[in-house]
Amino acid sequence: MSTAAPRASRAPGRFDDAPFIQACRSQPVHHVPVWFMRQAGRSLPEYRAARGPGSILDAIAQPELVAELTRQPVDRYGTDAAIFFSDIVVPAAAVGFGVDVAPGTGPVVSEPFRSAADLQRLRPLEPELDTPYVIEAVQILAGSLDVPLIGFAGGPFTVASYLVEGGPSKNFTKVKALMQAEPALWDALVERLTDMALASLRSQLDAGASAVQVFDSWAGILTPRHYEELVLPATRRLVAELGESHPGVPTILFGVGTGELLPLMATAGTSVVGIDWRVPLDVARTRVGPGTAVQGNLDPAMCLGRWEVAAAETREVLTRAGTAPGHVFNLGHGVLPETDPAILERIVELVHAEGRAGVEPT
Ligand code: CP3
Repeated sequence: MSTAAPRASRAPGRFDDAPFIQACRSQPVHHVPVWFMRQAGRSLPEYRAARGPGSILDAIAQPELVAELTRQPVDRYGTDAAIFFSDIVVPAAAVGFGVDVAPGTGPVVSEPFRSAADLQRLRPLEPELDTPYVIEAVQILAGSLDVPLIGFAGGPFTVASYLVEGGPSKNFTKVKALMQAEPALWDALVERLTDMALASLRSQLDAGASAVQVFDSWAGILTPRHYEELVLPATRRLVAELGESHPGVPTILFGVGTGELLPLMATAGTSVVGIDWRVPLDVARTRVGPGTAVQGNLDPAMCLGRWEVAAAETREVLTRAGTAPGHVFNLGHGVLPETDPAILERIVELVHAEGRAGVEPT
């Protein structure tokens, strides 16, 4: 449980022996660690009770509430890591780009990014001035959680897609058109978003986060060639510069529908690549290659029905993960809102009991 009173901020490396950190580093573990993308949220009654109405951006600006919402799933499920409660559009919103998060829809932008003039709405992020509430909430959590806290930022393509499309998109036509028609403008946009992500991630790590995940959730819509030319260089720079300021901090890169991109994503330099449910983990391991851990990848829809189904599918993931170190159990994407929390609780127990990747035989 993570109800201990806040203590002084913990020294770096406080969680070096935690299974989540060890699995990220492809080291042996006591048990296979598990957390769930979107573990905080609408599937939890205590979330709905605490969150209140209004934009999620208002909730995100309240450090005590953020700390509570971040802890809720850890307490309920017994996960091996906490994911910081925030959103990928927070930095862009904080510098005044003009973005909100509409309930049931996701990020919406009233004046989408169209031309070089719009770069002016993306000035550099100064975390202490622009997002002090993020720093404060991370500090509260780092002083009180008993498991590592994962900080995060949106990947360059995914954040750009919201700013250019103006909201969620099916075919991503506007952002793809911009990438092709105006490569210099695309570069400028991606570089700014990468700098913002870097500043945000550094502030979360300085405040006490133990690892970070880059959510480039929608990158799988791109061809490998376009991903490699137009997104991967910025992602590599992000990971490299983070490694310079925070050496040894575990990093995770995740996207959906990225089966064909996995070998490229593995060259971004992160410790872990997140795998969606479409690629069996044994296949994913060969695609990311040795030395990089994998995270995933139970189909979130398998948690919606009978326990027997969820259990069989969880075992299938564990089998595919094999016995070599470097598996962080997760869903292949976020928890669906209609998920029964009791199923997730039982999945955590099952993974802890039966996961074998990196677990020394007793
Ligand atoms: O447990 C957690 O993961 C909590 C923190 C978190 C949120 N968003 C809270 C949130 C994280 C890590 C995110 C990241 C995020 N935000 C991503 C990448 C992860 C992914 O799922 O691919 C993306 C693409 C976004 C953009 C976004 N924000 C979407 C698509 C939505 C959902 C819209 C909806 O309501 O269906 C949001 C809103 C949002 N962010 C909610 C939560 C809990 C929804 C509920 C609410 O408004 O309270």
